[in-house]
Amino acid sequence: MKICVMPGDGIGKEIVAQALRVLARVGEKFGRSFETEDVLIGGAAIDATGGPLPEATVKLCQAADAVLLGAVGGPKWDTLDPAIRPEKGLLGIRKALGLFANLRPANLFPELKQACFLRPDIVARGIDLLVVRELTGGAYFGTPRGIETRGGERVGFNTMVYGEHEIRRIAKVGFEAARKRRKKLCSVDKANVLDVSRLWREIVIDVAKDYTDVELSHLYVDNAAMQLVRDPSQFDVIVTENLFGDILSDEASVITGSIGMLPSASLGAKNPGLFEPVHGSAPDIAGQDKANPLATILSLAMLLRYSAADMAAEADAIENAVRLTLQQGYRTGDIREDGCILVGCRLMGDAVLANLK
Ligand code: IPM
Ligand code: MG
Repeated sequence: MKICVMPGDGIGKEIVAQALRVLARVGEKFGRSFETEDVLIGGAAIDATGGPLPEATVKLCQAADAVLLGAVGGPKWDTLDPAIRPEKGLLGIRKALGLFANLRPANLFPELKQACFLRPDIVARGIDLLVVRELTGGAYFGTPRGIETRGGERVGFNTMVYGEHEIRRIAKVGFEAARKRRKKLCSVDKANVLDVSRLWREIVIDVAKDYTDVELSHLYVDNAAMQLVRDPSQFDVIVTENLFGDILSDEASVITGSIGMLPSASLGAKNPGLFEPVHGSAPDIAGQDKANPLATILSLAMLLRYSAADMAAEADAIENAVRLTLQQGYRTGDIREDGCILVGCRLMGDAVLANLK
């Protein structure tokens, strides 16, 4: 299996390094051979080549079976022309690989209950949901877009646009995911205001005809944001458009109290998918061996699960090793608690390796 590795910026290098140690150990234990190649993206690519997404990166990713990403961005590149900011690299690779479906699970690790931001009686009901975010459409990519002068003042504008086929294919991903879970799908839109959302809702309802075993509900995005903090246990799978999904997935992940723990997968119609932690590049702690590598290690598990049909056992082994590591009390700074074994990035990697059965 060929894996393109994009450490990116900030803590990216440190956390990806730990995931690669895990990958090597999985290879030994399960008799698999993984070929990895480092490629540039984001600020690291800007520094080396002048742009956030070199042509070579796109080509190598297209030829790989999967892509593992650390994180992109940092203050160093914040003042650059928006056209060459690190984030453009991430948006560009999503588009270039056709990764229209972004799966962001948010679940509460029982070991990390006290890190959760919600009231204990709400936490007791559990959090185990999956945000399915459309990733290559909507306001992120719609045209026309820009800033121009109209009537003597500047106006800024973007276009939230979705074609029926884009809605249909992401709705299917949502229903399929719900089918494998608790069979509940909540579609989030703003159909009381936006035309694009009215079409969204109409198509989702149409797709639902093929999934009568899944219970479909609809929420306006403002209400969804509120329900997520009021009672996240009511959600199984949430499917929504790009911008709403960006916002709701941050909300869903942070309420678990462990954003440093959450992985994500971005998938297209065919390989390769891109796998990355939900958290960002954390420039404030970069290079200090403080970062939590578990989200990246869990992203690696998702990579093996989604990119190769026969590697579920390998993925399970990684996820179990992470759970065991938490049970043993190992914590990085972001999830520290009284009485824990406080470790840095590298030692957390060591602990996971030791637990890999
Ligand atoms: C995310 C991030 C990106 C997004 C940024 C970095 C472009 O917030 O992956 O959620 O908005 O999609
Ligand atoms: Mg985001």
